[in-house]
Amino acid sequence: MFGVAVLGYGVVGSGVVEVIDKNFDRVAQSAAREIRVKYIVDLRDFPDSIYKELFVKDFAIIEADPEVRVVVETIGGVGAAYEFTRRSLLAGKSVVTSNKELVATRGWELLQIAKEKDVNYLFEASVGGGIPILRPITQCLAANRINEIYGILNGTTNYILTSMIKHGASFEDALKQAQANGYAEQNPTSDIEGIDACRKICILADLCFGRNMDPDWVKTVGISAVTPVDIHYADGAGYKIKLLGRAVSLQDGTKATAYVAPHLVREDNLLASVDGVMNGIVVRGNAIGDVMFYGAGAGKLPTASAVVADIIDAAKHDGARKYIGWDEGSRDTFFDSALLESRWYIRAQVTAAVARSAFGDVQILGGTDGETAFITSSMGKNTLDSTLESVTALTVFRVLG
Ligand code: HSE
Repeated sequence: MFGVAVLGYGVVGSGVVEVIDKNFDRVAQSAAREIRVKYIVDLRDFPDSIYKELFVKDFAIIEADPEVRVVVETIGGVGAAYEFTRRSLLAGKSVVTSNKELVATRGWELLQIAKEKDVNYLFEASVGGGIPILRPITQCLAANRINEIYGILNGTTNYILTSMIKHGASFEDALKQAQANGYAEQNPTSDIEGIDACRKICILADLCFGRNMDPDWVKTVGISAVTPVDIHYADGAGYKIKLLGRAVSLQDGTKATAYVAPHLVREDNLLASVDGVMNGIVVRGNAIGDVMFYGAGAGKLPTASAVVADIIDAAKHDGARKYIGWDEGSRDTFFDSALLESRWYIRAQVTAAVARSAFGDVQILGGTDGETAFITSSMGKNTLDSTLESVTALTVFRVLG
């Protein structure tokens, strides 16, 4: 038997069990062998589950069972998830996960263990939910030097922004709905403050640039400062507000940076029409040019789709390790994203005349007696900050492109 153990029976874990069960024949055909869930590990009881016979509470059972070839880690976080992943790899089992926090923070180390033990650590579902993105980067785009990746990487915040922009929903109501749909993290602060997107852009940077990028280095701003007033000004000028993660490498590949922040995106940019829980990711390769990946970025079955595909891949490569990995990074190969120039959207307590005198050539988006919204010419963050010393800014976002 090619046995699978699922650790954590939450939104994604239960989706994985469901997809393997419902698509049993299709999965068997793809993997060229039958794949069965042998155990589900969760500390909670599920007496009404149709899979109740599969539940165990002791991870040691999985560790000791040679029929378990793949462990699916859908616990989340870096505590038990790290410990069980490590032990599974050391026990000679491949591990498949959707856990972006663990991959972004300890992925390098876990990949080393996988390499030593000749097993696979696969994490397609950790970025972009159901969107195939990591495998295309490492395989289909392998001939390219990639210098930039950016996009909408968090379904919850995109769902909230879309609900606010298109349906006039309040932030709180939109968040509640995202939670009810199973998009949000257990602690939705990770979504709202951009932390989840930060982990994902780091994983993308690791794979695209070939060096570890630590989430702690990456300046991260979420959507809590986005107000209906900003949405209104942006809309009037033909822009949508989107939370983007972006990673950029120097042309010679010696250094790279990344950041997460809300951006004004022009309506004619494809990313502006990536709405709801959808994610959109642009990869810029030196042979292919820009290529965009689009699809459901969160949710039970889309994420399970990516996890089960990795299980199939692990089954096909049982005893034949896949070469996924990157070098150990350091701060010496990271540069401050403040150096990246862009135009800036500013809403400030100034008149249009004062905005012009401080920033020169600006595009005025609108205003009232007390404030003006405008877009500056292109400049780095340090120049922006020094100019802002003479202006009381209420909101500042980057403008894409
Ligand atoms: N909370 C995440 C999101 C789940 O909303 O994108 C998928 O990683």
